[in-house]
Amino acid sequence: MTVRLLAFAASLRKASLNRRLLGAAVEFARQQGATVDLADFHEFDMPLYDADLQARDGVPPGALQLGHRVAAVDGLVIASPEYSHSMPGILKNALDWVARLKTAPLQGKSALLLSTSTTLVGGNRGLWALRVPLEVLGVFVYPEMYSLATGDKALDAEDWPSDPAARQRLEKLVAAYLETAARLRG
Ligand SMILES: Cc1cc2nc3c(=O)[nH]c(=O)nc-3n(C[C@H](O)[C@H](O)[C@H](O)COP(=O)(O)O)c2cc1C
Repeated sequence: MTVRLLAFAASLRKASLNRRLLGAAVEFARQQGATVDLADFHEFDMPLYDADLQARDGVPPGALQLGHRVAAVDGLVIASPEYSHSMPGILKNALDWVARLKTAPLQGKSALLLSTSTTLVGGNRGLWALRVPLEVLGVFVYPEMYSLATGDKALDAEDWPSDPAARQRLEKLVAAYLETAARLRG
């Protein structure tokens, strides 16, 4: 059975570097036989978490949508920018809303984490922060992560990492993750 993935970049920006990097990872995953639901984070539009709002109206449609899409797959590929050495607020907010769902859609899923930023660290510190809520919510986060330094220069016109070694590392990591995701799914 093919591995089913939900992939999204945690950026709303049209020219998001993380969305561009995600595109390369998704292409590799599809080449390796995975089925990928490639989402745009705008599809998960939702208010800031407010328990009063939840008590009044329930979980908002954008968070329900994310929960449904997560429930339908084996694993996630998330490309996330690093904001202030952590994850962007939109992603933490989305995870907080999804954590309120009684169906616990993240429980038992796996995830591969990617990042790129304009700096030499490539957003890697943000991914370490992102591991915490994901793991608490029951996700097996693949140990190796992929961070591309100076993404504004390191992606080519077709959004592949232009350095062949960086490109190959991404391809190999996607393959290794898919193997694990398939095994975890049983
Ligand atoms: C609020 C904010 C905080 C940021 N903090 C960091 C940071 O801590 N480390 C870093 O490498 N880049 C930081 N950046 C730069 C982002 O990594 C860069 O803008 C990146 O391109 C954002 O991802 P995107 O292109 O996918 O939207 C920050 C950007 C913003 C807007």
